[in-house]
Formats: sequence, C-alpha cells, structure tokens
Amino acid sequence: MSPPPPQHLFFSFLLLLVALVLQLSSYTSATQEQAQVQTTLSTTEYINPKLPPRNIITPSKKFEGSSNLVNLRYHMGPVLSSAPIKIYLVWYGHWSNSQKLLIKDFLLSISTPPPPPSKHKPNSKPTSTVSQWWRTVSLYTDQTGANVSSTLLVAGEYADTAYSHGKQLTRLSIQQVIATAVKSAPFPVDHKNGIYLVLTADDVAVQDFCRAVCGFHYFTFPSMVGYTLPYAWIGNSAKQCPEVCAYPFAVPGYMGGGGPGALKSPNGDVGVDGMISVIGHELAELSTNPLVNAWYAGEDPTAPTEIGDLCEGTYGTGGGGGYIGQVMSDRQGKTFNMIGRSGRRFMVQWIWSPVLKACFGPNALD
Ligand SMILES: *[C@@H]1O[C@H](CO)[C@@H](O)[C@H](O)[C@H]1NC(C)=O
Repeated sequence: MSPPPPQHLFFSFLLLLVALVLQLSSYTSATQEQAQVQTTLSTTEYINPKLPPRNIITPSKKFEGSSNLVNLRYHMGPVLSSAPIKIYLVWYGHWSNSQKLLIKDFLLSISTPPPPPSKHKPNSKPTSTVSQWWRTVSLYTDQTGANVSSTLLVAGEYADTAYSHGKQLTRLSIQQVIATAVKSAPFPVDHKNGIYLVLTADDVAVQDFCRAVCGFHYFTFPSMVGYTLPYAWIGNSAKQCPEVCAYPFAVPGYMGGGGPGALKSPNGDVGVDGMISVIGHELAELSTNPLVNAWYAGEDPTAPTEIGDLCEGTYGTGGGGGYIGQVMSDRQGKTFNMIGRSGRRFMVQWIWSPVLKACFGPNALD
C-alpha cells in the first residue's frame, strides 16, 4: 500500500478540528445553543443536489410520494403512546464516545423544543428541527385516540464491548444480545414503556445487512428474552456498505465519475451520520407499529410497508421521482436537513404524514 497523499493528511487534520469543535459545542449552555442555531441558519443555503434516492434495497417499496398508490391502514394494535418513550441502548462492539454522543444527541433532540421565532422576523417559518420532524410521527393514534408520545428519553445504556454473541449475528441472535443485556443490572426489562435499540459496530456482520436491510424493528419473544419487548437493530455500515446504508454520504461506484458524487456528511462520520437516518426510520415505525399490528400498508403483515418505508430516500421538497430533494448546506459544504440540540445537524429521511397523505419533513419549503 502506498502512503496517503498529503491532501489526505490535511483532510484528516480538518476532520479532527471539526470533531474538536463539535465536541466542544456539545458542552455549550442553552443560551449559546439558541445563538448557535441562529448562526447555523444564517450561514445556510438551500441546495438541490439532484441525487437519486437510495432504492437499491427496496425497489418494490418505491412509491415516490404518490398518495393514490398508498393504502396505509390502521390494524387496531397499540402505538407507543405512554410518555415518555424510554429507549434502552445496547452498544454492541466497539463504539467511540464521540459516536455515542452523536447518536444520543439525535435521540434527545426529539424532545428538545425548537428555538423561539427570531425577534427580527416574528412571522418567519419555524426552524427545521428534529422535534418538528417527530411531529409527523406524533400524528398517528391508536383506537382510543391516543397519539404517539412526543417525548422520548434515553433510560439506560449497556455496552457489550466483548462481542458476547460473536461478530456475525442473525435476527434471532440479536434477541440473545438483548437477553444478555437485560440480565445485567441496572439495565432493566421495561415492558411498560421501554423500547430497545441494538446498535452494532462497523465490524459486526448481521443477517441481511447491506443486501436486504440497513436496520429493522420487531419485538422479542418471551421464550428468548422473557417478555415481548419492541426493539430495533441498526448497523454501522462504514466498512461494509456505506454506499447502500450511508447513502448519500457515499455513493455506488457507477455514480462516481461525472455524477453528482457523494454529499459531505453533517458530522464528518459517514457511517454514523448515515445510521442516524436509519435510526429515525426505525424509531418512527417502531412507535407507530411496535407489535406489527398497527399502522402499515399492504395486505401482508409479514412484509408490511410502514411509514418510514414509504418515504425512504426522500430528504426534502422535490424528493421522490428520482431525487433526494432540497436540503441545506453550510459554509464547509456539509449537508443536513434538520437541527437538534446543541446546534447539531442531521440529515434524516422524511416520514409519511397521515394528515397530508404525503411524505413530509420540517425542511419542507411549502
Ligand atoms: C394527534 O393526532 C391527531 C390525528 O392525526 C392530530 O389531529 C393531533 O394534532 C395530534 N395531537 C398531537 C398532540 O400531536
């Protein structure tokens, strides 16, 4: 192998600087947070990168936002309506602290209220935030009329740094990972408000990962874990298939030369920045279809099309029909479509709105 060219070193140095700045910014106070959001917005421009959506995985689930093809129905089961939704995180394998902070910042941004409207422009559109994005998910109700909870907290974390079930997991062994985690105090079985997220490091292979899925959600079996617990798995694709699961921060080879190329990820970590959209997708579906008997389209409950599937690959206005849509870009060219706590930026796919009967997100231009 040849040594990296000097530009590469310079770029690494830049990334390091950015990482440092981000690290510092996560310690700023609430007032600074407001100021930061304002600064972020004033240096923001809208771009339409004309990138096609990622549809490598689910071409059959491509609806391109057309409502007459979509028959999303409620099947009488529960939604996650008790507030707050308590998330239990299982970090499987090696995760750095900055990666964990980035993912937790996204999760905690769901319940972070948006900044107040600017004094100068009191009638301006609300800022595009993660909590605004979640509002679409909160529009879903159960048969008693209870909405999906608008608040969510990280209630516990468990680090399986020893890869206790190996580096090749199946759908079933992910339930064993959860079983191992809930056996260790103080990481509880919370069968009232709890949901479990298993996040696998970039060196863990998971059944169907990259080929058919980037993440999935289901519920645990009492025979494996002792209870029926809604859970989701999402993998870090950085070393395995970023062009599939961290799209559009990595693009397939055939799109490289002459094409629009990959977009710059908002936090300089292609794998984790890409994962965040998948986490958003799975959380939205887990909340509206936790036992796979509530909100989905299609007649086949073993292959339901859910509220995230319907909008996969759409990140902004004009998305679908071949494009990811209009997103934002900062001075350094990093792309994002919403802001979270501490001024953090994220790029997260849109969600199907039951009111608009279309894909919707907080950065919608109309
Ligand atoms: C609850 O859902 C209904 C139906 O979608 C919606 O009209 C209402 O605004 C939602 N309430 C909240 C608090 O999100």
